[in-house]
Amino acid sequence: MPPRPIPIVDLAAEYALVREKIRASFDGILDSMRLVLGPNVQAFEEEFARYLGARHGVGVGSGTDAILLALRACGVGPGDEVVTTPFTFFATTAAIVQAGAKPVYADVEPDTGLVDPADVRRRVTPKTKALLPVHLFGQSADLDPLLALCRERRIPLVEDAAQAHGATYRGRRLGAIGDAGAFSFYPTKNLAAYGEGGFVATNDDRVATTLRLLRNHGQSVRYEHQIVGYNARLDEFQAAVLRAKLPLLESGNRRRREIAAAYRRLLRPPVRPLLEREYGEGVHHLFVARVPDREAVCARLQEEGIGFGVNYAVPSHLQPAVKHLGHRPGDFPNAEALAREVVSLPCHPFMTDEDVERVARVVAG
Ligand SMILES: Cc1ncc(COP(=O)(O)O)c(C=O)c1O
Repeated sequence: MPPRPIPIVDLAAEYALVREKIRASFDGILDSMRLVLGPNVQAFEEEFARYLGARHGVGVGSGTDAILLALRACGVGPGDEVVTTPFTFFATTAAIVQAGAKPVYADVEPDTGLVDPADVRRRVTPKTKALLPVHLFGQSADLDPLLALCRERRIPLVEDAAQAHGATYRGRRLGAIGDAGAFSFYPTKNLAAYGEGGFVATNDDRVATTLRLLRNHGQSVRYEHQIVGYNARLDEFQAAVLRAKLPLLESGNRRRREIAAAYRRLLRPPVRPLLEREYGEGVHHLFVARVPDREAVCARLQEEGIGFGVNYAVPSHLQPAVKHLGHRPGDFPNAEALAREVVSLPCHPFMTDEDVERVARVVAG
């Protein structure tokens, strides 16, 4: 018999836990026909903001919308520069460009893949209007030096927490630490919708007011448009899914940590898992390791029916979409080295200990 497949995520196993709740909520929405910015969005905004320890939460259409709206609500616009990382999903860069601003990259730390605060400082210019660190793979960027830099320059810090639901930095949940924090609920995320969804957390009343306008065509009341906004609302059905799944987030993250700890015990050089920093608790959205012979490792995983990913093979500064920025290979050597070597292994709450051992054996070859 072929070995049991181990998927990179197991959405069906999770659905089995929330099926009844979600179906009942969907019936309620359909019976009431309150489809847009209704009670589920409002309740979820309160529940997730409370979980994060943020004063406000604003549900939006996607993680990309969340970053774009957060940047705009923090005053970023045409002519501004935003310092960020090239080693992330491209949406981080796309949102900066969509806001009319220029992405300015700082290299990452080679052992974590997180943006290097010392290099961020070197990249700041008089045009820098915001910093946009990414809490990559569920681990916090080192926020204290970045927050100090923001205070010095009087510029906002926007957190890309799209992969970091529930992760902490010095005891505080990510997304509620900077001026605004952006989350994605793309179906594979630790807290995920069954479609598109996003969220911005903030402790700033003015930023929250602007976010609410921006996501809903700039309307304060119906047909009264204070600013030119977007159609970027969180959907009632997705909010109902998220409300059903939020109570599972902590236990899911705990199990992911156990799995990550097991991988760290089992994987041996030359396989090098990205390091965890002691300043916070990660949530292992992905478990990522550097491997010198990636092609061979991926071929073995494929053969064994084990899901894997490569996050990310091409760093943002070398993407065709931003060739106008004029970057070349070699500009950000740490990001480029990681892009050549990383592989993401299954790390979801429904894996057994035996699954983890099998993945580690296959990676070792
Ligand atoms: C780091 C990061 N930023 C932004 C996004 C964009 O989120 P979305 O796909 O919901 O637009 C994602 C994920 O998809 C992401 O991983």
